[in-house]
This record gives sequence, C-alpha cells and structure tokens, in this order.
Amino acid sequence: MTEQLNNKTYCDISWKNDTTPISNEYGDVYFSADNGLLESKYVFIESNSLSSRFSTADDFHIAEAGFGTGLNFAIACKLWNSISPSDTTLFFTSFEKHPLAFADFRKAANNWKELESVYSHLLPTYSNLKPGNNIFDIPLLRTVLNIIVGDINDMIPSIPSSSIDCWFLDGFAPSVNPQMWTETVISNVTKSAKPESTLSTFTAAGNIRRALIKHGYKVSKKPGFGKKREMIFGIYHGS
Ligand SMILES: C[S@@+](CC[C@H](N)C(=O)[O-])C[C@H]1O[C@@H](n2cnc3c(N)ncnc32)[C@H](O)[C@@H]1O
Repeated sequence: MTEQLNNKTYCDISWKNDTTPISNEYGDVYFSADNGLLESKYVFIESNSLSSRFSTADDFHIAEAGFGTGLNFAIACKLWNSISPSDTTLFFTSFEKHPLAFADFRKAANNWKELESVYSHLLPTYSNLKPGNNIFDIPLLRTVLNIIVGDINDMIPSIPSSSIDCWFLDGFAPSVNPQMWTETVISNVTKSAKPESTLSTFTAAGNIRRALIKHGYKVSKKPGFGKKREMIFGIYHGS
C-alpha cells in the first residue's frame, strides 16, 4: 500500500487578505503580500536570466528549496512553454517538508489566473502526495516535476552531482527557518550545481552570503523586491 501523508505533515496556515498564505509555525509569508507574482518573477526568473537561457536551452533542470504554493514552479513552467525549443524538457525538483493541504493549495492556485494553464495540470495529482519523490510527468507542458516531500536536510543528498542549472532558494527567512539554510543544504546545493549554474534568493543575510561564497559561488547583491532592501544571486564557479 502507498504510504500517505498524515495530517501533522501538512502546513498550518492563515491567510492575509485571503490571498497570501502565512505559516503559523514559522510566522512568515509564502511570498510578498503586495504582489507575489511580480516578486517571484523579479527574484527568481529575472535574477537567473531565465528568459534568455530558456530560449536557447537544451533540457534544463531547476531545483528549489520550498515548493509551497508552487508559484515559482508555475511561472517558470509557463515561461518554459512559451520560449524554449519545442523538443526540450524542463525538469523541476522541489523540496517540501510541510505541503499545503489540498484545499489551501487550490485556493492559492486560484489567485493566479494567468497561471491556470499550469495549475490545471497540477491540481488533479497534487492531492495524492506521499513522502519522498512525487514525480509528475506533464508531457503537454514538456515538464517533469518532482516534489520531494520531507526535510530538505535528509533528502537533498539524493540529487545527482553537477546536474542542476539553477537553484531557487526560497525557504522562509533564515532567522525563523534556519533548518532550510544549514551547512548540509548549502554544501549539497553546491555539489549538485553545474559549473556556471546560478541561484537566487530573496534574502541577503550575511551568513548565507558567506556560506555561498565559501562553497564557490560568486555572489552579488541587488535591490530587493518591494519593501525588502536587498537580495542576492550567485554564479557557481566551483570550489
Ligand atoms: C517561502 S515558502 C516557499 C514558497 C514557494 N516557493 C512558492 O512558490 O509558493 C517556504 C517553504 O519551505 C518549506 N520548508 C520549511 N522548512 C523546510 C525544510 N526543512 N525542508 C523542506 N521544506 C521546508 C515550507 O513548508 C514552505 O512551503
């Protein structure tokens, strides 16, 4: 019998303005309450130059720390389908310790009408999540999504070395969610990164910046989205 998630695994959330989930456990929002869609495009899509990289890509592999509402995934997947060569596949691997319950996931998805073409493929299968790998092959979107359910510290060593083109580091803030930003996570992000691969994150915390530099990333700061002062992005040059 397939192992199911128990109720305790799901994230306990509240809603701000009925549109932005807030984790009651971590006391942090999943994305900017001002405009999560624009924030995600700014922090993850633009900072990693995904438009130009997708348009000339062979297959492309994004990994993400924190699947949450799937917003980053849906934006990347939609962009992939609009500009990547038609014989290529997007692989998207995302780690998630506390998946949203199905009703919350659907409510978040319903906020983003422009992403309906992606969420419509995801919603029917999302309710069957189990611990470990959840591989959704979506040929119509030329995408293979793997939601890895569990603590990223336990699961991240399974990612093959030098396989990832781009990392989205999207845990809650390091001050409230330090388990998402451990030495184990950063060293395995590095191990899995292809040479010249990139990463970005909404945080500019000094300890995260220093850890990335120590592991071989050239890290730059740029203005953060909305009220956030700064964010960082990096290119992996090898240690
Ligand atoms: C800021 S939210 C992610 C938002 C998401 N990328 C989106 O597009 O909606 C952070 C996510 O990290 C997850 N998380 C927190 N600690 C974790 C851990 N140790 N391992 C895996 N996931 C974790 C949370 O459950 C939450 O879904």
